[in-house]
Amino acid sequence: MTFVVTDNCIKCKYTDCVAVCPVDAFFEGPNFLAIDPVICIDCALCVPECPADAIFQDTELPADQLQYLALNEQLSQEWPNITELKAPPEDADKWNGVVDKLPLLER
Ligand code: SF4
Ligand code: F3S
Repeated sequence: MTFVVTDNCIKCKYTDCVAVCPVDAFFEGPNFLAIDPVICIDCALCVPECPADAIFQDTELPADQLQYLALNEQLSQEWPNITELKAPPEDADKWNGVVDKLPLLER
């Protein structure tokens, strides 16, 4: 099992999730974070921390978010580790709740 960052993180990237992860399982791209499923210990601490409600357990992923399971696995191998909270994009709140942001994901 693992936890998965989904669509609503894109262009929000609040990083509150990073601050509570006990095993540093988050990896940072330009406008999205990914969880390494091998590192994640399924503690669920990150879920309530996300202001965008973007993190789900893999077994509870909404049907339209299933593609993010493979995407987290892949992108966490490509991106650098992030271990500390940082300022979100200035327009993060504007993008919180906008649906289907996958075409806007930067790699
Ligand atoms: Fe880290 Fe726990 Fe979230 Fe996994 S579920 S990414 S271990 S805080
Ligand atoms: Fe993204 Fe939520 Fe973390 S918006 S960076 S999953 S706090």
